[in-house]
Amino acid sequence: MKAVYYQEFGDADVLTLGERPRPSPGAGEVLVRIAAAAVNPIDRRLRAGELQDFFERTWPIIPGWDFSGTIEQLGDGVEGWTVGERVMGLAFTWHLHHGTYAEYVPVSTTAIARIPNRFSFVEAAALPLVSLTAWQALSEFSGLTKDQTVLIQAGAGGVGSVAIPMARYLGAKVYTTTRSKNRDYVSERGAHVAIDYSQDDYVSVIREAEPDGLDCVLETLLDDTAIANAIRLTKDGGSVPYMNNEPPDMPEIAARNINTAFLHHRADGEMLTYLAGLYDSGELPLPEIATMPLAKAAAAHRQSESATTRGKLVLTID
Ligand SMILES: NC(=O)c1ccc[n+]([C@@H]2O[C@H](COP(=O)([O-])OP(=O)(O)OC[C@H]3O[C@@H](n4cnc5c(N)ncnc54)[C@H](OP(=O)(O)O)[C@@H]3O)[C@@H](O)[C@H]2O)c1
Repeated sequence: MKAVYYQEFGDADVLTLGERPRPSPGAGEVLVRIAAAAVNPIDRRLRAGELQDFFERTWPIIPGWDFSGTIEQLGDGVEGWTVGERVMGLAFTWHLHHGTYAEYVPVSTTAIARIPNRFSFVEAAALPLVSLTAWQALSEFSGLTKDQTVLIQAGAGGVGSVAIPMARYLGAKVYTTTRSKNRDYVSERGAHVAIDYSQDDYVSVIREAEPDGLDCVLETLLDDTAIANAIRLTKDGGSVPYMNNEPPDMPEIAARNINTAFLHHRADGEMLTYLAGLYDSGELPLPEIATMPLAKAAAAHRQSESATTRGKLVLTID
């Protein structure tokens, strides 16, 4: 099959377009013929050699976890799914080998959902990882609810683009950080207050507006100051799901009963089916999506590395 893969850690140039053996589905899995695969920052971070202690690897590695496509083959014991169905999902595993920058991927049926009829493969591929991440952080972990307040960092990015409307759907008042060029974008997605972090100190802006603190900070940034400020901005008993790091070593976390953790997304076909319903009914808007052909995967990784991607970037396979 056609695939993009890498044989060693390195910059985007290690990505190679070529032929790889077509995988077979294991028990409880389906083989999906992929139509589109979204690019996520983790794809290029793993390619660059990050997180080596957390993942097993069988070389060469095909990157990517997000996909949409059609079921090509059923593995042993699979019931309730048929060949030819349009599905999307998160082909996450702790063992890196079969990613989604390819024509086929084997994936557990527990990680897939049917694609609503009105969505294209490109639209569907953009959704799984960021939607599951944002919903698990805001609803499941933080219990965000009506009239609460939340800061969603990097509102114009992939996670932010879906987290903002989810927080609005849950009834929260939404603060977000973005540069001015994306202010209209995050506002259209439902942000009440968009703070240009390149011009203003978002901590001061939020402290002035919410002197008692926020109920939740969805922290996607990596720097130590932001990581500590997330705790300082949160009210007693509030919640800070971190996307990239363990919580900082701050005594006030326990003293102020702040609910915090490094959250890693979980592949969950049932939750994805529920969220697909919210997108289908229009209660959640799709993120902005740009596409590139699979052969441009290296350019897509460079785009991701620029940290300026608005919404989602999706590779088309066919
Ligand atoms: N734990 C998990 O399961 C999980 C899941 C998904 C993602 N993540 C992590 O979460 C982070 C965000 O992921 P993503 O997919 O949203 O990334 P992304 O789509 O690449 O984010 C790009 C966006 O980040 C914004 N940005 C860059 N620097 C910023 C800053 N200092 N302050 C505010 N916004 C800034 C940019 O907006 P402007 O152009 O307006 O600056 C751009 O739109 C990544 O580090 C990723 O690895 C973790």
